Amino acid sequence: MTQTPSFPPNDKTPEGWPLWSILIVDDEPGMRNFLVKTLVPRCHSVMSAGSAEEGAEILHAQHVDLIILDISLPGRNGVSWLKALREQGFSGQVILITAFADLDTAIEALRAGASDFILKPFRVPQILNAIKHCHENSRLARENYVLKHTLSARQDASNGLVGHSRVMTELSRSLGRIAGVNSTVLLQGESGTGKELVARALHDLSPRAQGPFVPVNCASMSPELIESELFGHAKGAFTGATKARDGLFYYAQGGTLFLDEVADLPLPLQATLLRALEDLKIRPVGSEKLLPVNVRIIAATNRSLREEVAAGRFRKDLYYRLQVVEITLPPLREHKEDIADLVPHFMARLAPVLGVAPLEITPAEMDYLMQYEWPGNARELRNLIERSLILGSLNVSALYSLGQRTAPPQSTASQSHGATDLQTLEKQHIRAVLDSVQGDKSRAAQLLGISRRTLERRCAEWALP
Ligand SMILES: Nc1ncnc2c1ncn2[C@@H]1O[C@H](COP(=O)(O)OP(=O)(O)OP(=O)(O)O)[C@@H](O)[C@H]1O
Ligand SMILES: [Mg+2]
Repeated sequence: MTQTPSFPPNDKTPEGWPLWSILIVDDEPGMRNFLVKTLVPRCHSVMSAGSAEEGAEILHAQHVDLIILDISLPGRNGVSWLKALREQGFSGQVILITAFADLDTAIEALRAGASDFILKPFRVPQILNAIKHCHENSRLARENYVLKHTLSARQDASNGLVGHSRVMTELSRSLGRIAGVNSTVLLQGESGTGKELVARALHDLSPRAQGPFVPVNCASMSPELIESELFGHAKGAFTGATKARDGLFYYAQGGTLFLDEVADLPLPLQATLLRALEDLKIRPVGSEKLLPVNVRIIAATNRSLREEVAAGRFRKDLYYRLQVVEITLPPLREHKEDIADLVPHFMARLAPVLGVAPLEITPAEMDYLMQYEWPGNARELRNLIERSLILGSLNVSALYSLGQRTAPPQSTASQSHGATDLQTLEKQHIRAVLDSVQGDKSRAAQLLGISRRTLERRCAEWALP
């Protein structure tokens, strides 16, 4: 048998294939047997049907990634069936095969949503290459989806961890090791300490780096929708589910699923997630089908999961399942020496984005930054640098952690604001930030690097709106 050069000479299955489920629909038993024999050793599951009706039954009960579909079926044209499948929400790949082809049929097939079109008779390498292309297509489709949803976050992540302190050095060193294994990782640490940054670094350093990194914020999804967001749903699974949809687990196939704010996952969902992690299979909402998943899980929380377990808000078994590897990120006040690295790092990254020149930091200003307690951690420092670049001078009036009573250096805050005390500066600053986001408290809290609750307390104290 002659080999097509683009396919590996020994017919080895490309990475990712073994997870695929393929459905063959052809009324010729000879063709079905040939395809089944060729594909069974290479794929997770291969099913076959002799008619569109039989095929529809299988599709109803099982997850299918790819259909190899004959055009002339008894009583039904394959192209029209494909159109109907697409309307019902089938989002997998389709290769059409036919013995009698003309250009019009081919065009119609592609319009109906086929990924490829092959003429009978064909040889093994031809069909394997077509499948390979389909696999690539579906990988790209998933990647596009992920890119669309994470573009802004990704810009933030390209730089990796900065800092020479002992904790940061040790952390950076251990990341390479942890990235190499497939274990679940639990990231803990206060808000703004770099948990998402570490999650992305773990993905980028892992053998899954070419696969997708899919972040999921468990706190921002409505409890009713979170299950279908994660696991997908079948058509008609609930009111409004007019089409079947793939879940984020599926989009993370071959890559990493980042479960951010995992402590906010509702209890019933925790049980479902645990089952998925143990079986490496998921079941879309309203579906009978079990779908194999190949996903690495990284979870993060800024609460202590141990305390959440003790309080009965988090399942103990899921906690143990998640913390196979546990990393606790230190608050910035415990590695202040890294501020000297972080300031120029944020300057160098943000100045070009904002279209301004980096600022010089005087030794007095640096002293001040070192004395400050940084309740919002690295994020607060980053936000301070960003605002300072916009204003054209180090904007220390933005710093106001509770109990912080260090006087700002003469050259900056007191110069522009006169002899005001820190509290007044805080108040002015909070008001300015609130104004800049039209009073959106969540957004303001985020910009300030503090929790919404702290912001509300401050506003109440000073009778701000
Ligand atoms: N060691 C570090 N080196 C470089 N940048 C850092 C470091 N730590 C944090 N950052 C930056 O600080 C910001 C906040 O980090 P990140 O979003 O990862 O925090 P988080 O721990 O996920 O916070 P939250 O719990 O609020 O979600 C990001 O812009 C991140 O790139
Ligand atoms: Mg985060």
